[in-house]
Amino acid sequence: MIRSIIVGTGSYSPAKILTNKDMESIIDTTDEWITQRTGIKQRHIVEDGETTADLGEKAARAALENAGLTTDDLDMIILATSTPNNTFPATSVDIQNRLGMHHGVAFDVQAVCSGFVFALTTADQYIKSGYAKRILVIGAETFSRLLDWEDRTTCVLFGDGAGAVIVEAGEGEGTSADRGILTSHLRSDGVHKDKLYVDGGPSTTGTTGKLRMQGKEVFRHAVGMITDVIEDAYKATGLTSDDLDWFIPHQANKRIIDASAKKLKIDPKKVVITVDRHGNTSAASIPLAICEAVKDGRVKKGDIILLEAMGGGFTWGSVLLRW
Ligand code: ACO
Repeated sequence: MIRSIIVGTGSYSPAKILTNKDMESIIDTTDEWITQRTGIKQRHIVEDGETTADLGEKAARAALENAGLTTDDLDMIILATSTPNNTFPATSVDIQNRLGMHHGVAFDVQAVCSGFVFALTTADQYIKSGYAKRILVIGAETFSRLLDWEDRTTCVLFGDGAGAVIVEAGEGEGTSADRGILTSHLRSDGVHKDKLYVDGGPSTTGTTGKLRMQGKEVFRHAVGMITDVIEDAYKATGLTSDDLDWFIPHQANKRIIDASAKKLKIDPKKVVITVDRHGNTSAASIPLAICEAVKDGRVKKGDIILLEAMGGGFTWGSVLLRW
């Protein structure tokens, strides 16, 4: 059977860093409060004029270079973002053009913090069906543009960044010994739409709006939803937490990550954590974390890796793969 194998990774974080100490001079907060509740120590923030397409393009170029490929080798670009440059056209089409790619197709996927898991699963379906052989999957966000910088309950949590992977069709036997994506599980339930949302949009206020969140409600649902889709992945493959080499979760909050890993009995040494250095970068956080763990040599060919995310909607999902 056809399997989707990750053959390249790349990432980009804006140069400007805001530490928790810097946040103390913007709003009534402390490094201690932010660190204790979230594990976040700093976030990267775009400069005026720097956009989601700028970040996504840089991450995409890094992934292509890492894979030793050019855009001639791609059939498709899927960008996960909730902070597009414009309402339309899709930011992926802008990135496609910046990369000098004028064949194939590019489109955006919008599932907020679960965006990368949704985009990677979408890519896997196109590859398994034979529609595409190689797909660039990007998560890129400028959440700083959606933040109400006077709301201390949200503005300390998020940051900007981009990560990208290239997935390629390969042959497998249909067992968990195969390389590539072994299974993925996506969910959504709009009954939760008011717990984490942006209070504007083209069809309502005609403005971009600002991020609003019932933090406690998000926290209350997150661990249960995450563990549900991970248990689905275990059921589908026969693998368990003991088989994992690396757990690379959406980097929203260290407390959510720790609680999920504990509930699933995942060894803390197998958990990749980068949230301390970039905050919650929504759809960019998983590829940022993957890229770091690949670069520093933790992730090796043949490793079993579990990805998961949960975000606004709510949306949530898991991807289990062999590197
Ligand atoms: N600095 C200092 N004090 C603060 C801050 C701040 N930045 N923000 C809130 N406080 C205060 C509150 O005003 C409150 O004060 P009070 O007791 O005098 O009223 C106190 O801290 C406690 O506030 P809570 O909202 O109860 O804090 P809580 O313990 O719930 O922590 C947090 C808040 C960190 C947002 C938590 O609810 C959380 O992690 N939720 C998950 C949210 C999340 O990760 N969202 C990301 C998007 S979804 C996803 O990606 C999974």
